[in-house]
Amino acid sequence: MHTLTPLDSATSKPELYQQICGQLHNLLGSEKNFAANAANTAALLFHSLPDVNWVGFYLVEGEELVLGPFQGKPACVRIPFGKGVCGTAAAQQRSVIVPDVSKYPGHIVCDPNSKSELVVPLLNWGKLLGVLDLDSSSLNRFDEDDCEGIESVASVFVASQATDDLPDLSAAAAEWQSR
Ligand code: SME
Repeated sequence: MHTLTPLDSATSKPELYQQICGQLHNLLGSEKNFAANAANTAALLFHSLPDVNWVGFYLVEGEELVLGPFQGKPACVRIPFGKGVCGTAAAQQRSVIVPDVSKYPGHIVCDPNSKSELVVPLLNWGKLLGVLDLDSSSLNRFDEDDCEGIESVASVFVASQATDDLPDLSAAAAEWQSR
């Protein structure tokens, strides 16, 4: 069994994310299995961050995203590139903060309790693997500090994957980017 060290009482969000990144690095260790590492990343975030009701991965498959390991209520399975918050973050390869999901055109409702959302792309040397999605039942839960923190978490996760173990998603991503 892996025992997590309790997080120190972080005085700021950057400190909290620094501690989470350190824990994630230790938790993933030398394991390379994509599903196992994604599952542990989602679980660590879900149990370390205050006020989140869904944390999980959507992974590139062809021209859409498919639900990956997550914590929270069951969610929609497939999201086309460019659709919803996740599909937008994937298509534009940039993080998206949504303070109020009811005001985001095209937002895809999975858990009706979700009120705000943060989605960051998973990029490995420019290759899009998918996105990491966080939902909160509070409005305006995620700010720039959260965005930078989750981008760091995404980097630790991506770095845990040996290049030759990654699913080959380059053709789909290159085709999409060339449009
Ligand atoms: N709200 C997301 C869909 C995924 S769920 O929040 C888990 C979106 O608009 O892409």
